[in-house]
Amino acid sequence: MNRDVIIACDFSSKEACLDFLDKFSGTRKPFVKIGMELFYAEGPDIVRQIKARGHRIFLDLKLHDIPNTVKKAMQVLSALDVDMVNVHAAGAGAMMKAAVEGLTRADGTRPLLIAVTQLTSTSEEALHNELLIGPSMNETIAKYASNAKEAGLDGVVCSPLEAGLVKETCGRDFLTVTPGIRFADAQADDQVRITTPARAREIGSDYIVVGRPITAAPDPVAAYERCLKEFV
Ligand code: C5P
Repeated sequence: MNRDVIIACDFSSKEACLDFLDKFSGTRKPFVKIGMELFYAEGPDIVRQIKARGHRIFLDLKLHDIPNTVKKAMQVLSALDVDMVNVHAAGAGAMMKAAVEGLTRADGTRPLLIAVTQLTSTSEEALHNELLIGPSMNETIAKYASNAKEAGLDGVVCSPLEAGLVKETCGRDFLTVTPGIRFADAQADDQVRITTPARAREIGSDYIVVGRPITAAPDPVAAYERCLKEFV
């Protein structure tokens, strides 16, 4: 598996996003992540436009519903020709299997499908006292990751600090996609459990998702190239 850097395009409009991507016209086309904010504001057309410019796309919509609904929704996303999509592992095995079925095209190909185990915004305290989940956060993450593997998914989104645990549980080929990345000499913003691109590589991340360290940099192309140099 080839490591890669995914830029989180957390913009509120198509114009802002395309202006940003214009900066990369003379370089290698970055793999980009489109999240709920941009997708709900602009609809599927934003995906088509970015795809037409030659970027690979991780569509981060975190589906979580009954299996039939997720299967039908995934058929639509697969036809959009995205490269990676995700679901919540909390939807359980039948939902994840339905997602794989919905994504798989007539020719047998499909986008990569990864699962969110537990949101990094969920604390150990909320896990036990609000969600009434008894086992520890790490046990829950390991179990949800192995459920995802069993359902035929390709990997999980997790903190880079959990990537080692996921690889130990599910094997080296099970993908880890990790946000929470900061350069060694930069501010953390609102991220808590962060690490550098180089450390994420050592721990075993396959893809790092990087937003503000690139999108808010004075020279985004240089920041992207620095990420590639440190990580890939
Ligand atoms: O700007 P920053 O590098 O913090 O952006 C990280 C991106 O990864 C954002 O799009 C954020 O929503 C996403 N993300 C995250 N933590 C998760 C899952 C997704 O930061 N657990």
